[in-house]
Amino acid sequence: MDRQRALQLALSKQFFQGQELERKRIAVNLHDGLGQNLIVIKNQLRLIAEAIPSTHEDKQKLVALEGIVTQAIDEVRRIINDLRPWHLDQLGITRAIKSMLEFAASTSRIDFAAHVEDIDSLFTKDAEIHIYRIVQEGINNILKHSQATEAVVVIMIQDDHLRISIRDNGKGFIVPNVEESMIKGIGHGLGTIAERVRILGGQWKIESAPGAGTRLSIEIPLNKNQSRYGGEIENIDRR
Ligand SMILES: Nc1ncnc2c1ncn2[C@@H]1O[C@H](COP(=O)(O)OP(=O)(O)OP(=O)(O)O)[C@@H](O)[C@H]1O
Ligand SMILES: [Mg+2]
Repeated sequence: MDRQRALQLALSKQFFQGQELERKRIAVNLHDGLGQNLIVIKNQLRLIAEAIPSTHEDKQKLVALEGIVTQAIDEVRRIINDLRPWHLDQLGITRAIKSMLEFAASTSRIDFAAHVEDIDSLFTKDAEIHIYRIVQEGINNILKHSQATEAVVVIMIQDDHLRISIRDNGKGFIVPNVEESMIKGIGHGLGTIAERVRILGGQWKIESAPGAGTRLSIEIPLNKNQSRYGGEIENIDRR
């Protein structure tokens, strides 16, 4: 690898590490600040609503307000979850991805089918975060853009590669436009997938056409991202 490319990759890695730290900071602040305050407001509203008679003209307003605050609490939870994959630390990557898929299925009308093989302890911690974020972006794009009724996610190890396939039967789009916009730089989801895959030394492609659904395919070589002793120890190794 030439020096300039190596330098560029190192900068990219630093960018993503900084981004994860910043996301963690925002998630903790949201959780401990806004999230806690909303719970206090909700509890107070309930107490007040319970204390006034149902004939009181403000009773309905209070009940409606409580509903809005409950929605806001759910929304903050969802944002925190997106910002910080708590599950990744607690459950390991395989269960974290499964849990992300279950959440997507339970909060949308899309029928998600998944085949997720056990990939725990195969990758370094950094690689795991990239993999998790790639899958998350693929799923979020389906939820946001596809209008699909069905989606299929396959994550498997084959020929010393991690293979990820995320496809939907939704409205699809014209891919060249996306590639043009990706050239403008990091920030958009697909551009970020491209950059993460590059860091992992893998390959990716997106196939789509209007009316024909979308298929995102990714191949990541195990040997370049392997954790010899499990993710945690690999991190200590590198210090
Ligand atoms: N599964 C999909 N179905 C239909 N269209 C898609 C799908 N995935 C991506 N697209 C199209 O490709 C565009 C680019 O996707 P990309 O993830 O880069 O950006 P975004 O989702 O619009 O914004 P961001 O990811 O930054 O929140 C989307 O705006 C959408 O038009
Ligand atoms: Mg996106």
